[in-house]
Amino acid sequence: MMRELYTQIIMDHYQRPRNRGEIDNPDIEEHLLNPLCGDEVTVYALFEGDKVSDVKFGGRGCAISQASASMMTERLMGKSREAAEKEIKGFKSMMTGETEFPEMDDLAALKGVIQYPSRIKCATLAWNAFQKGMNDGG
Ligand code: FES
Repeated sequence: MMRELYTQIIMDHYQRPRNRGEIDNPDIEEHLLNPLCGDEVTVYALFEGDKVSDVKFGGRGCAISQASASMMTERLMGKSREAAEKEIKGFKSMMTGETEFPEMDDLAALKGVIQYPSRIKCATLAWNAFQKGMNDGG
């Protein structure tokens, strides 16, 4: 039952991605490739003061990578840099099984992915891109 729900959530984000597109003159524009499959994602973000005022993503990849990118944009929108960094760290520690996935949250739909180590890169691709963008001074 939960499994079906999770599949539905992933497919929903994949088919109707939130915040897919580009941002003109972004503060962050980071392109990352998943070396395991060659799929790619570009993450764009705009800051207003310390807050993420807009975040978008583009690229192509499997349902997991696209759904996870879509969920990430919803998650990081409006966050401060520090809070965004915390979200990214938190998500990555869920994907390594160190911390639990939140209940009643779309992100929980990615829980099953941790059983497939090769797909973890799919799920973390956009998040790593955002982090890299911030590290690079965006
Ligand atoms: Fe390429 Fe998932 S198979 S990003």
